[in-house]
Order: sequence, then structure tokens, then C-alpha cells
Amino acid sequence: MIVIGSDHGGFELKEALKAYLEGKGKKVLDCGTYSTDSVDYPDIAKDVCCKVLSGEGEFAILVCGTGIGISIAANKIKGIRAALLCNTYSARATKEHNDANVICFGGRVTTPEVAIEMLDAYMNAKFQGGRHQTRIDKLTEL
Ligand code: RB5
Repeated sequence: MIVIGSDHGGFELKEALKAYLEGKGKKVLDCGTYSTDSVDYPDIAKDVCCKVLSGEGEFAILVCGTGIGISIAANKIKGIRAALLCNTYSARATKEHNDANVICFGGRVTTPEVAIEMLDAYMNAKFQGGRHQTRIDKLTEL
């Protein structure tokens, strides 16, 4: 299961990513928001991240206007490693090196086509472990 959520600024991109994943046969748990009415991104981040930490979701996608606010919110939650994606290299590397369990996008700064390329790069990558696990253990201690 892939968990997804956005605020109003990320609503349209969230809908596009959800449709893309479902079109590929993936199960998606949509935690809202469900319209362009204004909501607070920390509330969405909390709900989505709790579902990752409980094991309900294998990873999560969060979207706000810039991707910044919702990634800041997610990274305040212990056990969450949220990465704001800006290119396919970083999308792949954050899985391989950081084992990011949440990926974030900015709906007002990224087209659906580019976001889908980054999403695919992340999903096709594998965590490399080794020295990267050591660094993640240190992140967990912070
Ligand atoms: C909402 O207007 C906007 O502030 C939010 O989507 C996000 O960009 C915050 O970082």
C-alpha cells in the first residue's frame, strides 16, 4: 500500500500521482485533502506519516504547494525520513542512500510529468545498506 496526502496547494498533483499509481495496479490509500479548499499541511503530514510508521503503508507521498512545509512537518516525526524531490538523480539517491520512507513534491512548482519521472526513479531504486545504514542509525539518534 502506498499512502498519499496533500494540502490544497498539492491537491491537483496528488490526484495525478494517485491516478498514475492506480493505473499501474498499485493500491493507494488517499488521506486527503479531497478538494482545493484550504487545509493545514501539518495535519495531513501527521496522518499520512502515522500510517507509514504503523506499517499500513510501505512508503508515502506528500504534496503541498512547494513541498517545503509538508516535508518540514513530516521530518519532525521520529522515524520519518522525508525527502523533497527536485530531480530524478535525487529521487533515486534518496532511496539508495537515505532509505526515505516519505517523498514530497511541490504541486505549484512541478508538473505531473516530471513528478511521475521522479516517483518512478524512487520506486525503481533499492536501499543500498552498508555505510548508508550506519548513517541512518546516526540520523535516528539525533
Ligand atoms: C499553502 O498556501 C502553502 O503555504 C503550502 O501548500 C505549502 O507550499 C507550504 O509550504
